[in-house]
Amino acid sequence: MNTTEKPKTTIVIFGATGDLAKRKLFPSIYNLYKSGKLSEEFAVVGAARRPWSNDVFRENVADSIKEAAKEEISIDLDEFCKHFYYLPFDVTNAESYQELNTLLTNLEEEFHIPGNRIFYMAMAPNFFGTIASNLKAEGVTNTNGWNRLVIEKPFGHNFSSAEKLNQELREAFAEDEIYRIDHYLGKEMVQNIEVIRFANAIFERLWNNRFISNIQVTSSETLGVEDRGGYYDSSGALRDMVQNHMLQMVALLAMEPPIRLKPDDIRNEKIKVLRALRPVSLEQVDEYFVRGQYGPGIANNSEVIGYREEKNVDPDSNTETFVSGKLMIDNFRWAGVPFYIRTGKRMKQKSTKIVVQFKELPMNLYEDKQKDSKMHPNLLVIHIQPDEGITLFLNGKKLGLSGETTPVQLEYCNNCGIDALNTPEAYERLIYDCMLGDATNFTHWDEVALSWKLVDTISTAWENNKAADYPNYESGSMGPKASDELLAKDGFHWWPITDIEFGV
Ligand code: BG6
Repeated sequence: MNTTEKPKTTIVIFGATGDLAKRKLFPSIYNLYKSGKLSEEFAVVGAARRPWSNDVFRENVADSIKEAAKEEISIDLDEFCKHFYYLPFDVTNAESYQELNTLLTNLEEEFHIPGNRIFYMAMAPNFFGTIASNLKAEGVTNTNGWNRLVIEKPFGHNFSSAEKLNQELREAFAEDEIYRIDHYLGKEMVQNIEVIRFANAIFERLWNNRFISNIQVTSSETLGVEDRGGYYDSSGALRDMVQNHMLQMVALLAMEPPIRLKPDDIRNEKIKVLRALRPVSLEQVDEYFVRGQYGPGIANNSEVIGYREEKNVDPDSNTETFVSGKLMIDNFRWAGVPFYIRTGKRMKQKSTKIVVQFKELPMNLYEDKQKDSKMHPNLLVIHIQPDEGITLFLNGKKLGLSGETTPVQLEYCNNCGIDALNTPEAYERLIYDCMLGDATNFTHWDEVALSWKLVDTISTAWENNKAADYPNYESGSMGPKASDELLAKDGFHWWPITDIEFGV
């Protein structure tokens, strides 16, 4: 984030009455404004079906900001909300686009904005293509400034639908005008992966198959599907989390150092990782991937129902709510090092963590002094959320006369200090990056395409061969037994997502 520039732009939010706009977009725009990153020269147009007025829209914007605020509102909210306008909108009707164009032109004049327009699709994906082509056909993208299209997931349902959608978008917008959101790329500690790797000599030198035995990426949630049963039942954890967030984290962990920290250089390195992912055949899917679906159990200290009992979910659903897998990256740096990924709903704890396990030393000099004769592997743990920080597990000498070793932890907590309150949220960073035209933390089409190709094989294998054992993990657990066996086959185990204790 370049924090000195104050972009001048209009933002059109399609789906402005929806949940994403309310929970993430309005509060993020407010935070950018409050922290002085937005100039007075901006305007937001909410476009959606409901026949709201500007006043009703502004009330909703204000409410969402009050709800999300971590501190007392320190600016004149009414003044801020005067930058927000509402347009009742029918995405299939050319007239709506004409009205939008007129409104934008007027606002650009009023706020002295040089024709820069961001179109943010915060709605159901069925209309992404229609909106993009109408924007172009009706001349809404025909301005003196720049146009940028921000698009939320799901980006397609598989490779072919994603490719079709991409073609539709590309007819109206160039690749460098399309900003595909993966909100994990806006998270502070995901952005820190590069810094940890490329700004620390002690890590980058060891960051390869000579010194690392395996890497584990876990993103677990305690929530179930909530009110998203309809979407989730046709998506599942594989499409919802693995195709995007999990593979993006793996790419950042595994990529080569980019030549410069420019979007294209970084994306090229990530693309190379995705290309080097070992292809898995339909027959091999069960060897490399495990699926699960939650049954009833205890989550967040209360009894919860199983996935098949959730609202808008097929009572015989075969959709997975948990996936774990082993990814092999067949290149010089990573040959032989498994990257294990694991994600699921209704698990024991909300946590996203990366554990880098280093190889053991060639011999244990302390063997005859150790009761359990085991030396503990060195681990680098990157805490993405809710804790943000890093922990390095080393071995030290146990206090006293025995000469035994004991694990010691070097810990750095990123979100413990007073500044934590002011740390920008993922969406805040991404919206600001988009305004500045910095596409580094958005996904390029090539990344989306390669991720879908891997995911398609897995989903095809699973669709051809329905799971007979669902539900196969209890709510509040860490997923099905088969997920532990996946690592046990290789002589490893998952490190706990709570405090790591040695010897587990
Ligand atoms: C979204 C998924 O992309 O990520 C959700 O659609 C999931 O199902 C969410 O809950 C998790 O995001 P976070 O930031 O809470 O880890």
